[in-house]
Amino acid sequence: MPTALITGITGQDGSYLAERLLAKGYTVHGLVRRNSSTVRTRLDPLFYDKDVYNERLFLHYADLDDVTTIRRILHKTMPDELYHLAGQSHVGASFEIPESTCQFTAMGTLKLLEILRDLPTPPKFLHISSSEIFGRPDESPQNETTPMRPVTPYGIAKAFATQMTTLYRDSFELFACNAICYNHESPRRGESFVTRKITKAAAAISLGLQDTITLGSLDGRRDWGFAPDYVDAMWRILQQPAPDDYILGTGIDHSVEDFLAIAFRVVDLDWRDYIQQDPRYLRPAEVNRLLGNPSKAKQQLGWTATTQLPEIVRIMVQHDLRELQP
Ligand SMILES: NC(=O)c1ccc[n+]([C@@H]2O[C@H](COP(=O)([O-])OP(=O)(O)OC[C@H]3O[C@@H](n4cnc5c(N)ncnc54)[C@H](OP(=O)(O)O)[C@@H]3O)[C@@H](O)[C@H]2O)c1
Repeated sequence: MPTALITGITGQDGSYLAERLLAKGYTVHGLVRRNSSTVRTRLDPLFYDKDVYNERLFLHYADLDDVTTIRRILHKTMPDELYHLAGQSHVGASFEIPESTCQFTAMGTLKLLEILRDLPTPPKFLHISSSEIFGRPDESPQNETTPMRPVTPYGIAKAFATQMTTLYRDSFELFACNAICYNHESPRRGESFVTRKITKAAAAISLGLQDTITLGSLDGRRDWGFAPDYVDAMWRILQQPAPDDYILGTGIDHSVEDFLAIAFRVVDLDWRDYIQQDPRYLRPAEVNRLLGNPSKAKQQLGWTATTQLPEIVRIMVQHDLRELQP
């Protein structure tokens, strides 16, 4: 059975992807950062499964900066497929820490590509790009040929990594692909992201644990999908006969206000009674609307984002209710 290496295995997508690949019979290796805690909550179900952890799932310490270590891990594990998910993934935070965002997301990807270029039999490579590369696009919905006009440090770093991935495919014959992902959510979404902040607040307010929710702009529109659907598409991209780039989105957009309304409806509350807006949560440059055209993924990968926003929000709020209930 094939072997995969996942960077960012402890994240939302990495944990779902690891589960998906293990279920398909893969041996999975994951890069993890060394830090002061070994708590990796999203991997708990796999970590505590004696038939899986250190049997078919192996974790290796490496920061994206540890080029020598990553090269050694690649030589040792010889994966057939490399899913590159690691990076500073928060757009707002990228204004606070633009240097490390670019160091890991942009340069980290280039360093990986450089290692692959030197391997005698490089694995198939998938870089997880982002709709933020389009910034304020001239066309809507966006497709694989829409020009990149990023307006955030995160978007600029992802645009660099995306173009490097395409360049290394064209120049060095690597099987290197980009999954240009629109926002995707789940109960495993980090708590600093607006979507999870909303579902957690709806649950906490309904349980009497919180009084209000404070947000920035409610006008931004995003194409929100379900993370487990998206990791399925990631796998499909690397099973194609030739490397290519794909837009992964639902083709439907909603506003932050829509998201709020759906979340509070799950707990029979009206969001307008609890909202506070604070300009401190506004970003120096906002992306107003991003909407993907996933036609190519549908035609070539046979993939569609099946879980729609109301269902995604319901799953997230119900998860948060279970977590918060005393
Ligand atoms: N979710 C979305 O809506 C979305 C949309 C478009 C693109 N993306 C991209 O898709 C990828 C996965 O997203 P996600 O939602 O799963 O993000 P996430 O939950 O924030 O996970 C990010 C992962 O990257 C790891 N990481 C960060 N910096 C690292 C470094 N310097 N060295 C090694 N590992 C590092 C994190 O490790 P720790 O656990 O140690 O922090 C974590 O495992 C990211 O690249 C993100 O930018 C996501």
